[in-house]
Amino acid sequence: MWGRIVFGTDGSPAATRAGEVAATIARATSAKLIATSGYRASSVGAEERLAEALDVAEAAGMRRARLDAEAVPGRAGDVLVAVAEAQDAGLIVVARGEDQALSDLSRWLTHHAPCDLLIVASGSRDPHAPYGRIVIASDGSATADRAARKGFDLAREVLASVTLVFIGHPKTGELVMGDTIDVYGRGIETEVRLLEGDPAQQILGTANDVDAELVVVGNRGLQGAKGFLLGSVPEKVVEGTHRDVLVCRTVMQIASELGPGEGGVIERRGEKLAISVDETGTQHLLSARCTHLGCTVAWNPAERTFDCPCHGSRFSPTGEVVNGPAARPLPPA
Ligand code: FES
Repeated sequence: MWGRIVFGTDGSPAATRAGEVAATIARATSAKLIATSGYRASSVGAEERLAEALDVAEAAGMRRARLDAEAVPGRAGDVLVAVAEAQDAGLIVVARGEDQALSDLSRWLTHHAPCDLLIVASGSRDPHAPYGRIVIASDGSATADRAARKGFDLAREVLASVTLVFIGHPKTGELVMGDTIDVYGRGIETEVRLLEGDPAQQILGTANDVDAELVVVGNRGLQGAKGFLLGSVPEKVVEGTHRDVLVCRTVMQIASELGPGEGGVIERRGEKLAISVDETGTQHLLSARCTHLGCTVAWNPAERTFDCPCHGSRFSPTGEVVNGPAARPLPPA
């Protein structure tokens, strides 16, 4: 479900546990695991830390062929983001920090990770069977759906049960949560809670109530999109719990997640790119800047086109103009 998982280690006990959890998830989801360590030019030991991290991953059942390691000079956060982007990773895994306090690295990545982010709390739970119950937060919107899908996919792979929390009008919740379970949660033991009030408080309260090991939230509040996750809900959840948190990047997609006939907009080194995958599995990578006046196009799954929200231009999956006012195709990236 993630293809490649990047995990950061500084050699601390908390990072070692996060590495074990990352290896367990990589093994369960058949992903490749890349251990990284940032270091200052003067410091030594990055190679040793990575060798230890690979040993831990092997002990957790990963095959050596599915493991890789990169020691790169630079600040840990910058290194993790750069490696994740270069490898087109779907998930970054880091430790929450020592003594359960949220580390500056975890906080920074909550805002800057180019993909999903799993923050692993230290604790006594078995890192080889880390999740028995997962809380997934949703408002039923299309973007929150993506976080729900990730949460359910992970629950399926690690054999967890799910508590699906809807915050909003209960009548709406009844309708949309049924659909969410039908589409993503088939075969997974799921309990639904329809709640109103402060979203972060309700999510955290539910996690405590069911003693979940993992909370799954979308990050789009941090991206400024509309919806209940607006503002600081993902941040409040990350700050307010001592449990593991999966922050799903719900705005930008990851190229390796797209199947034939699908498209999306991704971000690479700060630039937005439109990407589509044709029926033969070939990826087409284009600039996401509309050639009319430069707005960012979005994938329209119903029409299989890239549509511009500003003045209605529409482009084919390979960038040709379908509707104006744009007159020129999206150029290849
Ligand atoms: S900027 Fe895209 S249609 Fe005008």
